[in-house]
Amino acid sequence: MPKEETIEKQYDLVIIGAGPGGYHSAVRAAQYGAKVALIEKNKLGGTCLNRGCIPTKALLASAHFIEKLQRAEEFGVELKGYTTDFSKVVERKNKIVNELGTGIANLQKSWKNDVYIGHGKILGGNTEEGFKVLIKGETNEEIILGKRVILATGSTPALIPNFNVDHERILTSDDILNPNFKTIPKRLLIIGAGVIGCEFADIFATFGSEVTLLEYLPSPIATEEPIIIKHLQKKFDSMGLKIFTSQNVLSVENTGSGIKATTCSASVPRDEIENAETSVYEADLCLVSIGRNKVSNDLGLEEIGIGTRRGAIEVDPGTLETSVNGIYAIGDVIGGIMLAHVASYEGDIAVANALSSLGIYKNHSKRANYRVVPSTIFTSPNIGSVGLKINQAKNLGIDVLVGQFSYSSLGKAKCMGEEGLLIILADKHTTQIIGASCIGESAPELIAEITLAMQNGLSIEDITATIHSHPTLSEMVLEAAEAIVGRSIHKKGRPITPRLRDILMEQIPYGIDYESE
Ligand code: FAD
Ligand code: NAI
Repeated sequence: MPKEETIEKQYDLVIIGAGPGGYHSAVRAAQYGAKVALIEKNKLGGTCLNRGCIPTKALLASAHFIEKLQRAEEFGVELKGYTTDFSKVVERKNKIVNELGTGIANLQKSWKNDVYIGHGKILGGNTEEGFKVLIKGETNEEIILGKRVILATGSTPALIPNFNVDHERILTSDDILNPNFKTIPKRLLIIGAGVIGCEFADIFATFGSEVTLLEYLPSPIATEEPIIIKHLQKKFDSMGLKIFTSQNVLSVENTGSGIKATTCSASVPRDEIENAETSVYEADLCLVSIGRNKVSNDLGLEEIGIGTRRGAIEVDPGTLETSVNGIYAIGDVIGGIMLAHVASYEGDIAVANALSSLGIYKNHSKRANYRVVPSTIFTSPNIGSVGLKINQAKNLGIDVLVGQFSYSSLGKAKCMGEEGLLIILADKHTTQIIGASCIGESAPELIAEITLAMQNGLSIEDITATIHSHPTLSEMVLEAAEAIVGRSIHKKGRPITPRLRDILMEQIPYGIDYESE
């Protein structure tokens, strides 16, 4: 432990963890004029850049490129055949990750933020000069002082002892995204058909693996709209991908030449599992993708009285301040919505509150609001959503109107050979947009328009009154919004009933509900 008198550096803000939560916060705080230290024990960019969003999307870009090649004939292109080289795909992925990592380091330099490589830990409570933060580097230790601290230490793959993750045959997403992982297994078994499971299933199936997914719940990506899930399942079926749902995976073993997973039905009560009928699934490799654990250990939390719940650091949900004044926590480590853009958003909130309380960014305290959070699953086709799903809206007692429009009815999508659908939800009484779900090419971009609409409390009329360029996929948004009120131009008409006539005559401008669609 370094001596107290060796404490030299004092900062307005010390941030522990340099993922999209931490590094974003560091830049934002510097923009407001704060003196900032950013501590990272591994690589700048965190999970998102090094083991998450970016490397998967680089692999998916190659997979989607192959998928287009496979459809060459449909577009009038005769290919004399092609081969794939997964090691080159991985090299491309590594290069993208490295370049972006250098970019983050340069950004910090340009804002004159000090970056420390080492494990950060808070030592004791607030003193007049601030919080002491210990940095344990590979060869040395150092203590710095921060008037305010943000914890942004993220998450790691969740593990279950019976799954025997050995990082050789039984892997996590960290292993598969390791710069040296260059294997396309003949047979891949994926445990957990959530976001990670489905994205990797898409990648490896496209590269020729026989992929099987085992999922505990009755459906993959269970939180999405059922109609969207159905569409994805149809696509996965066409790729030969197998999904077994309602499977309780009891154990996974490395057999030396492969892996073996044993399951029973998820409906079997815990105390009857021992005698339950089991099924066995064999493959060459296994990916375990069953959620994420929060990284809240060895941060000095217990010593200063910051609580955790199932690993998640407890914060005030509005200010993101912990129970210790002056210490904030953001991103995956607080649980909630574990997405990169949410971590960055929370960084903005925590920075504003921390610097406001220091008088650096006066009177700018903010409260987090999660009403409008877009998310994407980057399968092919992409899935995007924002706001409420139909059942959520109904459960909240909202009188919900639904407009649905298909890619197959849109000129631009037809030219591109794309299929899918967009659903927009509105509140019948206010006509405000309350949610949307999309599966299809550029789904996240379409959802971005609806996200902006929702963020600003816009209504169906606001979208339908907006001119959308033709021919573009953005017309999906216009048509789906028009479909809510029975006025989509490119959707099949229905005989005019008195009720529909009323709607068209604008006597009850927004009256079609989902059931009658
Ligand atoms: P992290 O990114 O986990 O960063 C935390 C950092 O803190 C790490 O670098 C860690 O080394 C460091 N750290 C931890 N403890 C200490 C300590 N004591 N001292 C110093 N440093 C420490 N989200 C999306 O929005 N879109 C996607 O497409 C997407 N794809 C994903 C794909 C995969 C395979 C995975 C696993 C995740 C994906 N995510 C995606 C989720 C996204 O990566 C996370 O939500 C995001 O990275 C969380 O950011 P964070 O800053 O909270 O934490
Ligand atoms: P997840 O929560 O999305 O999915 C895990 C799945 O595993 C669930 O469907 C769950 O029912 C299932 N499961 C859990 N235990 C199981 C068991 N014992 N046997 C069988 N199935 C089991 O978590 P995932 O996919 O690991 O992703 C972690 C986080 O990373 C998510 O919160 C997600 O938001 C984020 N992420 C985001 C991406 C994106 O935005 N595109 C991409 C990848 C990850």
